[in-house]
Amino acid sequence: MAQMNFGGVMENVITREEFPLEKAREILKDETIAVLGYGVQGPGQACNLRDNGFNVIVGQREGKTYDKAVADGWVPGETLFSIEEAAQRGTIVCMLLSDAAQIAVWPTIKPYLTAGKALYFSHGFGITYKERTHIIPPADIDVIMVAPKGSGTSLRTMFLEGRGLNSSYAVYQDATGRATDRTLAFGIGIGSGYLFETTFKREVYSDLTGERGSLMGAIQGLLLAQYEVLRENGHTPSEAFNETVEELTQSLMPLFAKNGMDWMYANCSTTAQRGALDWMGPFHDAIKPVMQKLYESVKSGNEAQISIDSNSQPDYREKLNAELKALRESEMWQTAVTVRKLRPENN
Ligand SMILES: NC(=O)c1ccc[n+]([C@@H]2O[C@H](COP(=O)([O-])OP(=O)(O)OC[C@H]3O[C@@H](n4cnc5c(N)ncnc54)[C@H](OP(=O)(O)O)[C@@H]3O)[C@@H](O)[C@H]2O)c1
Repeated sequence: MAQMNFGGVMENVITREEFPLEKAREILKDETIAVLGYGVQGPGQACNLRDNGFNVIVGQREGKTYDKAVADGWVPGETLFSIEEAAQRGTIVCMLLSDAAQIAVWPTIKPYLTAGKALYFSHGFGITYKERTHIIPPADIDVIMVAPKGSGTSLRTMFLEGRGLNSSYAVYQDATGRATDRTLAFGIGIGSGYLFETTFKREVYSDLTGERGSLMGAIQGLLLAQYEVLRENGHTPSEAFNETVEELTQSLMPLFAKNGMDWMYANCSTTAQRGALDWMGPFHDAIKPVMQKLYESVKSGNEAQISIDSNSQPDYREKLNAELKALRESEMWQTAVTVRKLRPENN
């Protein structure tokens, strides 16, 4: 474990240099990893583990997603099973079902979680909100987590490119004395860049805040507010979109992704720098109370309950799709379609 300085705060991280793949393979050599669910994280983690030489099986109910697993080379009856059978065969049972599905299948898979097995999550949701999810593991199994900080699709593509997505890890319950080794070996096995320590609670609080906040919810709110103000003041859709979204994603984000916000600022005009430095404060002050309200809503379990209630409905997918359709058909995102078409690389 290496101590690293993160902006003046020391934290422990695990890198691939100090925890090589061979060590991970040795630790998990007698394990059968059962990945339950083949949605987004399922394929990413299962395929990376398989390519890295681990003993992996997939548990997936029949239907389109099952067919996708077959297309990816998982063989029915050999490496692809029903959720129940995979849970029975696995020694590390991975809950890579949607959070609502984890609640639904829990009573069915719980009997298969016999002494010494490990129950693995990529999200702290099920355990942290256990009063709401009723996921209460038996005391004689390990309960562990590796949470990749990005989509399962990115986990897979970055692995294939020889890169790695960073992941957090946590041990909630160590019944065997091997829980930490199992967790770190798993994290290296799925192709994580580096691993940093968390708890189930901290992971879910930060994850739910992040996706509702700067990563997804807040970014749409911010971009739309600016787009609307420009449109209300007579700017064309093309101009409003370019100044709000296209320049951000195509030109500026790569700069601050690479070398930080100050470096992005330094590569813009001095007029832009003066304005950005003056206005970052008022934006921060306006947004912070909303962030605080969001964090409280996450902490109280309110966000979890909303998600459980809506995503447990039989028609949840149709309802989500209808809302996404409205977003897609909004003027700003319709303008985006045209702007993308006009990108030289798409002509
Ligand atoms: N999405 C990400 O990139 C990401 C990133 C980090 C962590 N995570 C965590 O990883 C876990 C898995 O997330 P995900 O996004 O991969 O999940 P997802 O795509 O939402 O989950 C879909 C999986 O759950 C199955 N499923 C849904 N309802 C079911 C039910 N009632 N009974 C049985 N199976 C059911 C689906 O099968 P069908 O297709 O047959 O419905 C599919 O295999 C979650 O804990 C999530 O928080 C996800």
